[in-house]
Amino acid sequence: MFTCSRVITSLSRSFSTSSVNNAKVAVCGASGGIGQPLSLLLKQSPLVTQLSLYDIVNTPGVAADLSHMDTRASVKGYNGPDELKNALKGMDVVIIPAGVPRKPGMTRDDLFNTNASIVRDLALAIAEVCPKALVGIISNPVNSTVPIASEVLLKAGVYDPNRIFGISTLDVVRANAFIAEAKNLDPAQVNIPVIGGHSGVTIIPLISQAKPSVEFPADKLKALTERIQEAGTEVVKAKAGTGSATLSMAYAGARFALSLIKALNGEPNVIECTYVRSNVTEAKYFATPVLLGPNGIQKNLGFGKLSAFEAGLLEKAIPELKKNIQKGEDFVNK
Ligand code: NAD
Ligand code: LMR
Repeated sequence: MFTCSRVITSLSRSFSTSSVNNAKVAVCGASGGIGQPLSLLLKQSPLVTQLSLYDIVNTPGVAADLSHMDTRASVKGYNGPDELKNALKGMDVVIIPAGVPRKPGMTRDDLFNTNASIVRDLALAIAEVCPKALVGIISNPVNSTVPIASEVLLKAGVYDPNRIFGISTLDVVRANAFIAEAKNLDPAQVNIPVIGGHSGVTIIPLISQAKPSVEFPADKLKALTERIQEAGTEVVKAKAGTGSATLSMAYAGARFALSLIKALNGEPNVIECTYVRSNVTEAKYFATPVLLGPNGIQKNLGFGKLSAFEAGLLEKAIPELKKNIQKGEDFVNK
């Protein structure tokens, strides 16, 4: 009886109605702290049919391990630069968590020197092999790595600003978790838009637009906002030199990747906050809620009405964002 019901559960998971479409997903940096649990969550989803795991080390082992799961996606590992193009061939979605993480005392911008060239080289391969893929970038500093990938694709003549995303979902996930905790709500029922960028003052949680609506005294609102802005550093400190957020990032990255796939499948009303090419502010790239569709961004939903406190946060964020964006663009163009 036990065995039978397990089989039925497994089958109904694999052939649920939302699994009729094909989605081929590559994870670049698949052997890392984020890459492994992210690949696990993607392998677990019935929405994924093919999982292509690329890294410069250890992918044969990670792929062999995940391939034993009784879920729908076929899994293949690709190891080292010689196998990169094969890893990307035919992919609908490419998620990039490749690159070094912070240690205590570092800013995300301190990762630029190492991670800029990693993202550039992956983007060069994407431009050649799967220029129509939807690309989600996790590698920090996101404020600069998204402009880097975009400039590479632009130079290659295949840039589509609707298809390149900085994954800032973890900021939303954290805001939801912290506000739910403060108000004793079910986090699954809370939604806080987070706009701007993905580092320190550029992270702008819009608590005035929380659903359900919540109120805090000014000092508590400031403290919560700062905790959301510095949440990455909170994890870096707690991990004491062994890295930054990996498990919560894998959760957030999987949520974003699956939203891209749902949109590719034609599901309506798929909305995520994400750092994208934007006309919403003077910063060329800016995170806002966007409506996702089969070709990536269907509509940038902007950020609506800000409270006076949030308008002040925005004012502080813009110069920092513009500097980060320029640095990324200069890396490719100078
Ligand atoms: P990690 O060191 O555990 O893993 C990184 C992986 O990238 C390693 O397996 C490494 O071999 C691989 N890699 C290195 N160079 C590569 C290349 N050229 N091609 C493919 N793979 C390559 O690091 P992590 O904890 O997984 O973090 C990865 C990145 O994600 C960091 O830059 C970190 O700052 C960033 N991050 C971003 C967010 C976000 O919210 N966007 C959250 C957490 C971490
Ligand atoms: C995060 O927000 O957790 C990531 O950007 C990693 C970091 O360096 O803080």
